[in-house]
Amino acid sequence: MASLVGMQAAAQSAKPVEVAVTIRADQPGVKINRNIYGQFAEHLGYGIYGGVWVGEDSKIPNTRGYRNDVVAALKQLKVPVVRWPGGCFADEYHWRDGIGPRDRRPVKINTIWGGVEEDNSFGTHEFLDFAELIGADAYVAGNVGSGTPQEMSEWVEYITSDTKSTLAEMRRRNGREKPWRLPYFGVGNETWGCGGNMRPEYFADQYRQFQTFIRAPRDNRPERIASGANVDDYYWTEVMLSQAARHMEAYSLHYYTVPGRWEDKGKSTGFPEDQWASTLKNALRMDELVTKHSAIMDRYDPGKRVGLYVDEWGTWYDPEPGRNPGFLWQQNTLRDAQVAALSLSIFHRHAERVRMTAIAQMVNVLQAMILTEEEKMVLTPTYHVFEMYVPFQDATFLPAEFKSPQYTHGDWSIPAVDVSAAKGTDGRLYVALVNSDPNRGAVLTTKIAGATAGKVSGRVLTANAMDAHNTFDRPNAVKPAEFKAQRKGDQIVANLPPKSVVVLTVE
Ligand code: AHR
Repeated sequence: MASLVGMQAAAQSAKPVEVAVTIRADQPGVKINRNIYGQFAEHLGYGIYGGVWVGEDSKIPNTRGYRNDVVAALKQLKVPVVRWPGGCFADEYHWRDGIGPRDRRPVKINTIWGGVEEDNSFGTHEFLDFAELIGADAYVAGNVGSGTPQEMSEWVEYITSDTKSTLAEMRRRNGREKPWRLPYFGVGNETWGCGGNMRPEYFADQYRQFQTFIRAPRDNRPERIASGANVDDYYWTEVMLSQAARHMEAYSLHYYTVPGRWEDKGKSTGFPEDQWASTLKNALRMDELVTKHSAIMDRYDPGKRVGLYVDEWGTWYDPEPGRNPGFLWQQNTLRDAQVAALSLSIFHRHAERVRMTAIAQMVNVLQAMILTEEEKMVLTPTYHVFEMYVPFQDATFLPAEFKSPQYTHGDWSIPAVDVSAAKGTDGRLYVALVNSDPNRGAVLTTKIAGATAGKVSGRVLTANAMDAHNTFDRPNAVKPAEFKAQRKGDQIVANLPPKSVVVLTVE
């Protein structure tokens, strides 16, 4: 049997694959809605408490209770939209618990996530002010599972009304004179599961009823987002679209990437190459899901008026030993960076229908951007991908033509290379190149049809180990570095290391 050292040496000496790429700058596609870079923040573990909100009296530096370090890091990402308060938590959340003086708010049990006390100190005002602070749009998810149309309707009025109604006056007494902007409102969450265990026929009627009472001023009327399908439940989509398409502006889809089975997902670090390969293979399934759900939507909404919002996606691993399993805390490695890059590339390709997504989740939960522990904060490899990809927000999609060789490991086989390109709002061209093979480099020779390439600069995210990650002791183990591409006439030659993500800027 070959020794591990021998195998690594062989891997390092493997000859790079060569791939020819053509970027069709002469065939621009649609705008990549910046909301594709959205985030999800739930009352779950340290996602809100400790991660975003520490309260005004905390010794952790904060602005009106929000962690300064986290706020600054999120501003760098230009987070376009944040979904809150859940997830499953949304269907047990009653908004009146989270307004008024904090010391008088009721303490509830977060029955879905760890059975911990929820003191409601982060409520409607705290969320909407937070969204304003980081410059993001607010996406509030309403309670269908254990709420009523009246409760939902009054929440929307409390947030959006500029009248002298009792609810608007209550908001003013609680410290907010002017209404907040409320661009997005979700009607239910996973109503097929934690949101009520409904059948699609039943939820379609519930949806029609609840959305009727989302009444807001004309200039501040939120998009109505219908709770959608779980993974490949195409029947759910069929029923919802056929019964309720005209009552929605968007329809959601949830899909999580798990290396193994739900009962035995796999670890977030210290995993074998087999799970590197299975994770990326499963992440790529997003393309099939989006394609098939979109095809159903096309039948009922050929004009693509209704957006497909993938408002929960990302990796989900086994609970970390020693941590509350209900808190869904996991490390985030170079593998997660690959999942992020490949998923974003899929969303770019489907930008005509996919006009919002929300990665799960923003801080300390699942595939997080940021991990915190008391006063310490660390940025994850996923954060770095989102930061490198900022220029893709609102950019114009440009098709990329290439034929990728396969990366194969055991039973798993995926394209080794992925390319996504766009023309940024600043007029520059951005090309994201992903090499998913952990053992072999890739030489990508790119020509741009319909444009002349000038100066090229780049950044790369890579590391030696598949599970390389940042810790509070070594916060910069994985971070972007300068990447130099070569020019060969009108072509750009990029020598991608194994397991890397590169973004080129072409002037
Ligand atoms: O993101 C964690 C949970 O996953 C959400 O609360 C729920 O909607 C989904 O099942």
